[in-house]
Amino acid sequence: MMPAMSSVKLFAKSLAVLLFSLTLINPAAGAVVPRSGSKSCGNDTAGPKPNPRRFGFLLPRAFDVIDVFGPLDILQALSRQTHLDMVLLSRTLDPVTTQPGSAAMNKFNSSFFPTVVPTHTFADAPPIDVLVVPGGAAARSPDLGPEIAYIQKVFPSLQYLITICTGAGIAAQSGVLDGHRATTNKAAWGTVTPMGPKVKWVSPARWVEDGKVWTSSGVTAGLDLTFEFVKQKYDNGSAIAEMIAGSTEHVIIKDWRDDPFSAKFNVPPSN
Ligand SMILES: *[C@@H]1O[C@H](CO)[C@@H](O)[C@H](O)[C@H]1NC(C)=O
Ligand SMILES: *[C@@H]1O[C@H](CO)[C@@H](O)[C@H](O)[C@H]1NC(C)=O
Ligand SMILES: *[C@@H]1O[C@H](CO)[C@@H](O)[C@H](O)[C@H]1NC(C)=O
Repeated sequence: MMPAMSSVKLFAKSLAVLLFSLTLINPAAGAVVPRSGSKSCGNDTAGPKPNPRRFGFLLPRAFDVIDVFGPLDILQALSRQTHLDMVLLSRTLDPVTTQPGSAAMNKFNSSFFPTVVPTHTFADAPPIDVLVVPGGAAARSPDLGPEIAYIQKVFPSLQYLITICTGAGIAAQSGVLDGHRATTNKAAWGTVTPMGPKVKWVSPARWVEDGKVWTSSGVTAGLDLTFEFVKQKYDNGSAIAEMIAGSTEHVIIKDWRDDPFSAKFNVPPSN
């Protein structure tokens, strides 16, 4: 028992060391060539990729942690394969709490709310290629004026807008989803979809791609959206996405229509 286990351990350790050294010497790492202005048609064989570099994450008060840090974790892993820049955007540089603004949304008076320090305010935000809008209790806040104004202002210059979960509700309130196909958390469908009466809400959908607008269903669906985004938008994206999914031990849902939660929450098929 013991010798077998330690040799397995030893093997795993050597493999880890080997993989680590490979990433150090791999000439492909960092050799991804940016091709600006090019359009992607979907997969690695379909030609040059846009390779977006600069990601902004919107941090409204009471954002959902995984909506931000799930995609961010995947992209951070991608940033070890190609150059990426990240900014965390909020109204001020004060730490942003996940605690809802209204006491009614914390009825047991819990103290279970981390804070995240933004890197830039909306007013001094640098140019970005991609904006990621998370959801959470934030989407139901009556006070989203500065977030909505920033989304409206930046949207025309974005390569991509990505919303996670009920973040689609925040983007919808800013009007930028009007006329687009989009989805959101199926458990929150009834409250979020009225925030965008002119949006073509899609169900069932784990995520939806509509040109520059990518929207995901609830929380962890954002991981599947992000893996697909890496696959489609980066040179060698499929291999990199598989590598990151392997190291994070995530089983990717690869078909955007694979959405068991539409039925679970009685959301009728649409669009
Ligand atoms: C990739 O795109 C090519 C050309 O559009 C297509 O023939 C091929 O089936 C696609 N492969 C995958 C895995 O989608
Ligand atoms: C809620 O908890 C805080 C400490 O975390 C305490 O100071 C405050 O009095 C509590 N409020 C109520 C209404 O119990
Ligand atoms: C593609 O990415 C994988 C995973 O990081 C790596 O093993 C492989 O060498 C890369 N291939 C090219 C051509 O860059």
